[in-house]
Amino acid sequence: MRIFVVGSLNTDLVIETDRFPQAGETVYGKNFMSNSGGKGANQAFAAAKLGGDVYMCGVVGDDGFGKAHLENLSGVGVNVEHIRKTKTSPTGTAIIVVNEGNNRIIIDGGANTELCKDDIDAFFKEAESGDILLTQLENPIDIIGYALKSAREKGMVTVLNPAPANTAIIPYLKYADIVTPNETELELLGGKKEIFGAGVSEIITTLGKNGFEIDDGKTSKRYPCIEVKVVDTTAAGDTLCGGLVLGLSEGKTLEESCIFGSRAASIACSRYGASKSVPTRKEVENFKK
Ligand code: RIB
Repeated sequence: MRIFVVGSLNTDLVIETDRFPQAGETVYGKNFMSNSGGKGANQAFAAAKLGGDVYMCGVVGDDGFGKAHLENLSGVGVNVEHIRKTKTSPTGTAIIVVNEGNNRIIIDGGANTELCKDDIDAFFKEAESGDILLTQLENPIDIIGYALKSAREKGMVTVLNPAPANTAIIPYLKYADIVTPNETELELLGGKKEIFGAGVSEIITTLGKNGFEIDDGKTSKRYPCIEVKVVDTTAAGDTLCGGLVLGLSEGKTLEESCIFGSRAASIACSRYGASKSVPTRKEVENFKK
């Protein structure tokens, strides 16, 4: 089965600091780095680097950052034919400040805000029943909703990572089979009752250092994650989602797929950066055996 990712591409500008600045204050930071990020790109990158057959749809600016994204994704085998270049906005940017492994992020969506229905229609022309859609909330929400609806009509498996939290997605939850919120996103979407009430089959709640929980509306089970020395949690959730859809695309159970994704995410937390922190499949398989 193939994996179709609809989502964002941002250039992450990252500085590490000993403490976050207060309003009006300047503090010194260190270890500046610029690297390819954005939830959509990170998830597509992770699924492909871990071994999946991945296609991505999104929009970048006609600039150096956009070019770098295409190179980064094609480098791990992502099909980038449906990543459109626009001349009317720059590539999306994320300013990320990291302190003791935690981050604070500010995003300028830029080209990501130009994703439109025509992009989705062209992207899904070749998709077939059984293929997987993975998407998030860093593009216009009505377009993400349209992608979920179109994928459902095609008989695809639809996976929604509702991040960053946005209540505007609630009317479209009915088109999602699997939803992967963190605890804050879960609460903002109205809790499990609301989400299952919309028709979602499975909720995978990510719990940070406490692992994750799988709930099918009847039973819920918690799974711990493997502990690591955390240096940067950026893209940990994206890596989990990438590993999850990779497992599903290979016919693994939801539980096996989540465990694989969670192991990959633990490794990502022990490294700096977004897509550059994603491990190889071999690293995940050999991880603390
Ligand atoms: O999930 C991590 C990502 O969130 C970063 O790469 C940043 O671009 C923001 O989109």
